[in-house]
Amino acid sequence: MKERFYIKGGTPLKGEVSIGGAKNSVLKLMAAAILAKGETIIHNVPDLTDVEIMLSVIAQLGAKTDYDKNSKTLVIDATNLSSITAKYELVSKMRASFVVLGALVSRCKEAIVALPGGCAIGERRVDFHIKGLEALGAKIKIENGYVHAKVPKLKGAEIYLDIPSVGATENLMLASVLAEGSTTIQNAAQEPEIVDLANFLNSMGADILGAGTSEIVINGVTPDRLHGIEYTTIPDRIEAGTFMSAIIATRGKALIKNVYPAHLTFFTNKLLKMGAGIKLVEPNVLEVSCKNRLESINFVTQPYPGFPTDLQSMAMTLLTTSDGVGIITESLYENRFMQVPELRRMGADIHQDRNHAIIKGVKKLTGATLAASDLRAGASLVVAALMADGSSTIENLHHIDRGYENFENKIRLLGGKIERRCEEEDSAILSEGTHNESYL
Ligand code: EPU
Repeated sequence: MKERFYIKGGTPLKGEVSIGGAKNSVLKLMAAAILAKGETIIHNVPDLTDVEIMLSVIAQLGAKTDYDKNSKTLVIDATNLSSITAKYELVSKMRASFVVLGALVSRCKEAIVALPGGCAIGERRVDFHIKGLEALGAKIKIENGYVHAKVPKLKGAEIYLDIPSVGATENLMLASVLAEGSTTIQNAAQEPEIVDLANFLNSMGADILGAGTSEIVINGVTPDRLHGIEYTTIPDRIEAGTFMSAIIATRGKALIKNVYPAHLTFFTNKLLKMGAGIKLVEPNVLEVSCKNRLESINFVTQPYPGFPTDLQSMAMTLLTTSDGVGIITESLYENRFMQVPELRRMGADIHQDRNHAIIKGVKKLTGATLAASDLRAGASLVVAALMADGSSTIENLHHIDRGYENFENKIRLLGGKIERRCEEEDSAILSEGTHNESYL
């Protein structure tokens, strides 16, 4: 059923919002849970379509899963795995599921996992994952769109990543947990989600040092050392950054609860430089506010701890109505400016040249009919619609539902005017002659 957001802009967001568990962490913890026999309990698991897909992937491998959406608790029992194959039908829906490759090779010595292919935001190759597994001794064949990895015994190795890839670092950490000897990953990704995965694995009985730095050492352990655990996922820094942007964009003032501010240092500093108010009021609570028009800034997206690519589109939305000219360089993905044509339809003045965008602040954005092209571009359009004059509709909500739990309800609790409606409701309302704005 086709659903749309109906948003009436211009209301400052006020009150408080609580951030859920990190999507990009929990998906990897779910893959990690299949390394050990026994029951693992993960708390703070957000109710997202990506989580549902990962549940299907690990269930297909034979793990027993039980997800309680109310308590956000997920129980995984991977005592008995019955398959080593992750099928294209699931992997193609969500690239993150490719990390089951490392976990399966580690535990079962063999895995057949579909190649995820490219996606809207870029080519997103997996060559570092494959080369790393080969360095650990796995024989890899790529046939009929699947990676077939097989190894009698994985052996620790020195692996250097050309780019600090998040997914490759995670896949190789998972693969080397049960390898013989030590593995070193040089130029490893340093994202908080990597640290979360290492903490999770270490609680399970793994021996991983240096996560959060560019050199991670994984000392292989024997399978009997690993056991089920109880663990709580870190908060989602990108969800937090999205709400920070929405509060600032609408000139609101609100508390963001359950956030780890240290995970957002670079982003926060840029927002402060633009003129936003951000205060730490309690250890995991930020007060975010904005009274005046913002100043433009320049930034380049970088691997952590640099400016997060996943928040680039939110910052671009803020720049559309800031004083002066801002320049954004997207250095991670070839095609992550898909919000640009949509923002232009709202009146933004953006010039794009390959991976650079030059944004000249205009007085205001106006509501328009919009379409989400991917998760983060879609969320940035919600932020833009909340700050624009007049009403907007946004379609292709399945992209946004991949990564934002309860998005419209959280926005509504902050006073934002947003509704989700399916096409049938929509035509019923229109045939009764009710105008969109009055419905909101
Ligand atoms: N790359 C290669 N070869 C590889 C692996 C990566 O060339 O073998 C390139 C990619 O094409 C990309 C760059 O390296 O240009 C960085 O990719 P990385 O592997 O770091 O990204 P990822 O693991 O696929 C995760 C997040 C993304 C986030 C990036 C960067 C998950 C599920 N996804 O992707 O999140 O943008 O790290 O921080 O963890 C999102 O949540 O919307 C999202 C896309």
